[in-house]
Amino acid sequence: MWMIPQLPRTDGATLWFGAFVPTPPEVVWVEVIDVGGRRRLGRRALRPRWAPVEADATPRVWTGRASLDGLAPDRLYRLQLADESGAPIDAASELRTLPLRVPGASENPLTILLGSCFDYSGDGGAAISSFRRLLTAAQFPHLKVLCGDQIYLDLPVSEVIPRDPALTYRHILGKYLRNWAPGGTRLASGYGDLLRRGANLLVSDDHEYWNNYPFAASHVPFTYTAARRALLTRLGTAFCRAFQAEMGEGDGVRALTEIVIGPEGACPGDRLEILAIDGRIERTFTRAHWPADMERLCARLRGLTSPALVVLSQPLFQPAEGAIRRRWVDAGIADFDDYEPLAAALAAAPHDVMILSGDIHCGRIAETSLPGGRRIVEVVASPLSLIPRTSYEEKPADTSFPARPLSPPFRIPSSEIRMRRDPIREDHAVTLAIRARGRSVAVEVSFWSVRTRERIGAAQTFTLT
Ligand SMILES: [Fe+2]
Repeated sequence: MWMIPQLPRTDGATLWFGAFVPTPPEVVWVEVIDVGGRRRLGRRALRPRWAPVEADATPRVWTGRASLDGLAPDRLYRLQLADESGAPIDAASELRTLPLRVPGASENPLTILLGSCFDYSGDGGAAISSFRRLLTAAQFPHLKVLCGDQIYLDLPVSEVIPRDPALTYRHILGKYLRNWAPGGTRLASGYGDLLRRGANLLVSDDHEYWNNYPFAASHVPFTYTAARRALLTRLGTAFCRAFQAEMGEGDGVRALTEIVIGPEGACPGDRLEILAIDGRIERTFTRAHWPADMERLCARLRGLTSPALVVLSQPLFQPAEGAIRRRWVDAGIADFDDYEPLAAALAAAPHDVMILSGDIHCGRIAETSLPGGRRIVEVVASPLSLIPRTSYEEKPADTSFPARPLSPPFRIPSSEIRMRRDPIREDHAVTLAIRARGRSVAVEVSFWSVRTRERIGAAQTFTLT
């Protein structure tokens, strides 16, 4: 059985469990250790809400989530899954609870790790343990934001996706198991090693399905028929919901995650809103996001009471691809109808916004100042571990925002985009160290090389007001 911390709170977190048995246990035992205080806080009995990834499929896999409560804010805990007798199961997980407000200048910062695009067989797959150094003491991340392509379901092209649905299921399951625990059953290496250390917020991108999902891809023959696209859509979504983010159903909000640091009414510098919208799992040929998610995100942006981090499945400062390329090569969010309300809401936000994203196999920072005086800073981190036989890209940001003229009632003046960090072309992750600075928050952005384990260039600090 596996255990991974998902969304964190000030007093605990949602814990995710994966069980590879015909019937999962009703109760799971978690030993809680306060790392700083070197105290065992005892064993908790949790009752996950289990569901099979796919009913009647074999091998049967169950995933479930349960809430761990009663912890103190901004503390590091070790969580050890155990059996009834207390014997440990799998490698321990770690969790740093969220602080009550954005930390002050002399305190340890609120720390977020950003990454995307991970393939276990790339060079970075073996080297991901290099991030252990980033995952210690004062800089242990309160949250890891993983921005999509957590698996490459459709790659490499030499791999054929089996057409018998029972085998398609097994193929995708194999992808998840190999990426989460390459070469074994424990979350002690590969992506699982990163996932178990600190809380996780995951959004999906195209390779949770196939390149440029939901448009058929020429290099993936499986996607040539509507029936097989429907099968891969159903299974891709089932695995995302099971292994990655918890999502809603029905007409309301489905894949928008909101985390607020700091109490209501706090000074903007003490407060930070984190809004993450999944731009892939509900994508159609005309819109990138689920309408209720986008409506809620736009309302939150227009009503911000503090600076915000906005997580997108794909970068914002990316040119629109146009009618032909969006269909046959790769569509970006500017190619969809719901780019218009998003761009307009960002332009109307009363506080500065930092966009966090991945996807493009290139790391970068770019910034624009809006006519109203607010700023949008975009930080892109991709890849964590490049899938073999693909290449790092040279993708500077678009030159102006918005990426295309918007139609009424969304028309907004265009503003220039400036690169603040030239494209980084190696396996990497980004850390954000966030502290209050008066009525602003200061975000120190560092890029870290997976290969050398060192910082790539100097850290850059952005003051968001
Ligand atoms: Fe990717």
